[in-house]
Parts: sequence; structure tokens; C-alpha cells
Amino acid sequence: MSDTAPVSAQKFAPRVFSGIQPSGGLTLGNYLGALKRFVQAQDAGTETIYCMVDMHAITVWQDPAKLRRATRELAAGFIASGIDPVRSILFNQSQVPAHAELAWIFNCVARMGWLKRMTQFKDKAGKNAENASVGLFAYPTLMAADIMAYHATHVPVGEDQKQHLELTRDIAAKFNHDFGVEFFPIVEPVIEGAATRVMSLRDGTKKMSKSDPSDMSRINLTDDADTIAQKLRKARTDPEALPSDLDGLAERPEARNLVNIYAALADITPDAVLAQYGGQGFGAFKPALADLAVDKLSPISAEMTRLMQDVAEIDRILGDGAARAHAIAQPILEQCYDIVGLIRTRPSGMT
Ligand code: TYM
Repeated sequence: MSDTAPVSAQKFAPRVFSGIQPSGGLTLGNYLGALKRFVQAQDAGTETIYCMVDMHAITVWQDPAKLRRATRELAAGFIASGIDPVRSILFNQSQVPAHAELAWIFNCVARMGWLKRMTQFKDKAGKNAENASVGLFAYPTLMAADIMAYHATHVPVGEDQKQHLELTRDIAAKFNHDFGVEFFPIVEPVIEGAATRVMSLRDGTKKMSKSDPSDMSRINLTDDADTIAQKLRKARTDPEALPSDLDGLAERPEARNLVNIYAALADITPDAVLAQYGGQGFGAFKPALADLAVDKLSPISAEMTRLMQDVAEIDRILGDGAARAHAIAQPILEQCYDIVGLIRTRPSGMT
């Protein structure tokens, strides 16, 4: 079709997109694996779009009042961590209809077998897969739509999202192939740095997660200074001193985790941490880590509390972000519908 031809010659400008679910509070894992890196991408001058994925959150039941609060608190967490809602676009997913609409197209592109292989669905649905929502199963197609609605090229995430991003690439490639276009970019996952997988403070083989029943396993961005220090002092470790190089951490997941957390918080490499603390025991390292964590996280938590006092301002920011996001996503959706053969003759005022 003539009006889709120029699309195949399209070049994709660098554009960063990422999202966080407003289900429960933010953890140190979210901060180091995602938020801190979102800020770096913004400060590097790239076009950055960040989303509170509230429609992903409702793939498991959420109390409506708590969901509203968690979404606003997450917005506060983004801003307190350094996201500037003027330089970046910051919004909640459900305010931009292109996400759900494109997800439907992708539901028709993705194959059942692809989705059945998603380890996160298997983990979340557990033994009760028959009882999981259809939304939970189709979660990754909505995630692909989040990214592709903006023709985003780079997606900073933690390690646990790698498989979802591979699926996003597969969906984009299949769409392009099925319709003979180069309409969707093949996105680059950006999984970099010392903290792409922050582990539980109680078990160095498990990911730090907001859904872990033990609050001692994680640091929440809303924890006060005493709680942060106490959780790190009580973090599980082994009796050995820290080694002087990374090889010495190979069989020591808890020690490695704390070294990685230190490195990510201090913006240095794990090697540099070991150059400083190698040979010292946890009696010396843990208090230093606790001081560093309190120093970096307390201002964020204080700023979140302050921002949450003005909910109207948060809502204004989300509304403004949604309008800017919509302005980018809607024309891409319209082109996509056209490629697929869906007729759009409604008045332009409707879009
Ligand atoms: P979510 O809400 O579970 O987590 C948000 C981000 O935090 C990262 N993360 C971690 N990183 C390091 N260590 C940890 N322990 C840790 N825990 C969480 C996650 O990798 C993620 O980057 N499906 C996504 C949300 C999403 C999305 C998107 C992301 C929806 N659409 C489009 C990118 C692009 C999720 O559930 O993230």
C-alpha cells in the first residue's frame, strides 16, 4: 500500500521507554535496577518516557484505593529519585489508550506458545495457572505495546525483564514480517551495571522483591534511616572477610550482593569496592554500607513524603505527561491500524 511504503525507510531516533508497576512500594531493587538508571538516561539528554503501568498491576486483583495511592506514590518516587517531569514524560499507562489498543493487535500477532514459555507467568501463576487472569497471561503483549507505541529503541530494566524484552523483539519482528514493513523497531534491552539483579537480604539466591513475605529481605524506599541501617546490619552474610577480587565472591552470593549494592549506590565498580574493603570483615563493611545507603536513600524518602502532601500536583503532572505521551503514541497507533487494514474514518477530533 502506497501510504505505508515510506515507513519501511523509517529510521528510529533513540528513544528510551521503561515502566514500573504500582503494586506495593518501591524497593532498593527497583531503585538501583531501574529508577537510578532512568535518571542517568534522562540526564544523558536522550528522550525519555517513563510509565506507571497501572494496567499491568491489575492483572492480579488490586484494592482500588490502594492502587490509586500506590500510583501516586510511585510518581513521587520517580520524581524524588531525580526524574524531571518536564525533561522526561512521566504518566500512568491507563491514561493513554494506545497501550491497550496496540496490545490487542499484538495479542493477534504473538503466539500462545511464546507466552506459555514466559517464566514470570509461570512464577506468578504458580500451580494455579487455570485460575490466573487472562490479563496475567497476556501481560507481555501489553508490555510490548507500551514500548512499541512510542517506537522506543532502548529499554533500561533489571535482569528479570530480559525474557519479556526478547518477546517484544519477536512480536515486532513478526509484525514487520507479516505485513512486509519495517514499522516497529527491534528494541535494545539495556541491562547494565552492578545492580541489575539485587538479591534478598535474607537469601542471596533470591531476588529482592516487594512480594517477599519478609520485610527484612528488602529495603523499601519509604524505610526510615534506622530501619535501613538495621536491615543492612542484620543482612545475612558469611563469616569470611571480603576478598580482594571478584573471583573471591563467586560462591558467596550474600557477600556479592552487598558489594554490588555498595558499588551501585556509590557509582563505582564492584572491583573498586573490593580494592577498598578487601581483607576487612562484615563488622567493618556493613556499617559503611548502612551509612552510604542512608545517605543516598533518606533524601529520596523525605522528598517522597513531601510530594505526597500535594496529590493534586502529582495528578497534574501525570495528566500533563499523559497528554504528551498520547501525542506521540496516537499517530503511531493510527499508522499501525492502517498497516493492518483497519479503517479509520472518524473525525480527527476524536483521536
Ligand atoms: P516491576 O514493576 O516488577 O519492576 C520495575 C523495574 O525494577 C526492576 N527490578 C529490579 N532490578 C534489580 N534488582 C531487583 N531485585 C529488581 N526488582 C525489580 C525490574 O527489572 C524493572 O526494570 N513488567 C515490568 C514493568 C513494565 C515495563 C514495561 C518495563 C511494564 N511495561 C515496558 C519496561 C518496559 C515489571 O513488572 O517491572
